[in-house]
Amino acid sequence: SIQRIRARQLLDSRGNPTLEAEVTLEDGTTARAMVPSGASTGIHEALELRDGNPARYGGKEVGKAVQNVQRLIAPALQGREALRQEEIDHLLRELDGTKNKSNLGANAMLGVSLAVARASASALGLPLYRYLGGTGSNLLPVPFANVINGGAHSDAPLDFQEFMIVPRGAPTFSEAIRFGAETFHALRTLLRERNLGTGLGDEGGFAPNLSSAEEVLELLCAAVERAGYTPGKEIFFAMDPASSEFFDPSSGAYVFRKSDQRRMPAIHLVEYYKELAKRFPILSIEDGAAENDWDGWQILTRELGEKVQLVGDDLFVTNPEFLRKGIQLGVANAILIKPNQIGTLSETLETVDLAKRNGYAVMLSHRSGETEDPFLAHLAVACNAGQIKTGSFARSDRVGKYNELLRIEEDLGKDGRFGHW
Ligand code: PGA
Ligand code: ZN
Repeated sequence: SIQRIRARQLLDSRGNPTLEAEVTLEDGTTARAMVPSGASTGIHEALELRDGNPARYGGKEVGKAVQNVQRLIAPALQGREALRQEEIDHLLRELDGTKNKSNLGANAMLGVSLAVARASASALGLPLYRYLGGTGSNLLPVPFANVINGGAHSDAPLDFQEFMIVPRGAPTFSEAIRFGAETFHALRTLLRERNLGTGLGDEGGFAPNLSSAEEVLELLCAAVERAGYTPGKEIFFAMDPASSEFFDPSSGAYVFRKSDQRRMPAIHLVEYYKELAKRFPILSIEDGAAENDWDGWQILTRELGEKVQLVGDDLFVTNPEFLRKGIQLGVANAILIKPNQIGTLSETLETVDLAKRNGYAVMLSHRSGETEDPFLAHLAVACNAGQIKTGSFARSDRVGKYNELLRIEEDLGKDGRFGHW
């Protein structure tokens, strides 16, 4: 049972404060978990509690969340059975008492929820992915590696936030990592040759001086070939335009504010995606329409849903309620899963389950503000998700997740599978 819970404020990969929770069980087992943080957050996400004192870390300290863990959560969970994760998460939700976790803070709740799971796995002597997923968890996810960072994640004059390479044609997970990393290095060489800049964005991808999706995708094709692969054979592409960020709700139009100021209704944006998908091997588009633009999402799904995976991130915010609405409206065909959007492990797993039962594909995801905690890697395997996006092949906050998956691949040995979702 749970004996002690503590929390502390540390830093995330952007140098902003974040919360770490630490759980100690009766037998002395201690485990920790760190909470990530987004930049292009969905408005329906659970609340991340910050202190708001502008004189300290620009208002971003998490002292209140730390106090909530120590003064409110710790006494409520003390003596409870850590193996009963759903009960623990239920207690957390009751204690909070709000719909969006604004009382305790989703950061306080998630830190504790994840640390409890990790402590339980450790007490049982099981790898975390095995504890979370059981004996059927053996699918290593295809990496969606964000190698070009635009939008809210860099100063590049690019409206679309993410351009990912997807080494889906690799025979194993470790080969997928090799194909991807080699392409990343080839991309660096090309950027240097063309004087486009090799600085990195928040997710470890380059942030070059390019302003259109066509230019980026052409460059990615060249990088794939330079690395000795063929676009559409070993390596595919995916995009996260994160279009909520350039949607203008007052006019219902999408505006390319960071580049050429182009303005267009959803139908034209969808036409643009269609053209790109015709020219380039794009197999997945995330948040192609904005979080509250359900009409735009219906157009997008009607026009592209047969051909391309359409992932809801800001749209669903890992929340079963929003996913249910999407299922009813026949919108999107995949969901992005970010545990801190919903705030507990059990609710995260509930959303994954709901998605799978309704034929939606599942992609596990980091946040743009990450930590060195590789929990996500275990969660991806536990869910047999088959897909993970956790940044580029630079910055240890990103690479750490891939490295953990390489360890899991080794641990699974012959039982491990790769590449089908
Ligand atoms: P965020 O971006 O972590 O900044 O929200 C990631 C995403 O949009 O997928
Ligand atoms: Zn997204």
